[in-house]
Amino acid sequence: GRVAVLFGGTSAERDVSLRSGKAVLTALQQSGVDAFAFDPKLQPLAELVASKPDRVFIVLHGRGGEDGSMQGALQLLGLPYTGSKVLGSALAMDKVRCKWLFRARGIATADFRVLRSVPEATTALLAELGGKVMVKPASEGSSIGMSMADTVAALQAAVAEALRFDQDVLVERWIQGRELTVAVLGEQVLPIIEMRTPHSFYDYQAKYQADTTEYLCPAPIDVALTERVQQLAWQAFTAVGASGWGRVDFMLDQQGEPYVLEVNTVPGMTEKSLVPMAAKAAGLSFSELVLQVLAQTGQ
Ligand code: DAL
Ligand code: MG
Repeated sequence: GRVAVLFGGTSAERDVSLRSGKAVLTALQQSGVDAFAFDPKLQPLAELVASKPDRVFIVLHGRGGEDGSMQGALQLLGLPYTGSKVLGSALAMDKVRCKWLFRARGIATADFRVLRSVPEATTALLAELGGKVMVKPASEGSSIGMSMADTVAALQAAVAEALRFDQDVLVERWIQGRELTVAVLGEQVLPIIEMRTPHSFYDYQAKYQADTTEYLCPAPIDVALTERVQQLAWQAFTAVGASGWGRVDFMLDQQGEPYVLEVNTVPGMTEKSLVPMAAKAAGLSFSELVLQVLAQTGQ
């Protein structure tokens, strides 16, 4: 049947989605699938309905595409779509509520506070969180609006920046260590990737632009830790109600303890992205990956 590939959209991650979506569309077409592009920023949803797709492949990142709203619309329209359903999509988009769930399920995640305004010029909050923090808008992706802070002035500036993207700002204890990620495909957890960047963290540039980022897959960690991180990834993924496919991000501290950062329900599918890299290490080409994600489609 016909497959609509949704990409672009109106979020701050539009550019990333355009790259992810074109790669997915091309792979589907090369595999002989009757696939076509649909951009919700440029076309009304009525046009999607009129084009009568049998299935919808969602490659929209961020709000309006990854957060449950599109999933809800497609659900009501009776159009089967890839990936997480409404609840899992909505929860995974909200890093604060994810962390509450992780805590409730005993899944380690960095200490944090939630702010809705720029904090007073005192050192109390910083001290409480170990003197160095990561500041994030609660519902963004691709590290947009994120910054590190280790002084009161930097914290205030970081919160002000994050508030441009969201009314809820997450201030997390900084975890010094290694960055890992785990892709989930169906019921399967793929080989772990370690990302190494000379930047202070794996930021937007390190993700999509810099050629200084190093990727190691499978991550050079021992078997016991590999199994533990993969198990935690599955627990985090299911805790937020995600399904179909996705990616769970981690920090590994200097003692080798893993901390879950977040769950992504429509992870990047660009030529630099992580899920395709993990799939490759598991013996799946980009096209095979895309076809397997499509095969998870259900109502
Ligand atoms: N939010 C980006 C697309 C990712 O998680 O890969
Ligand atoms: Mg994310």
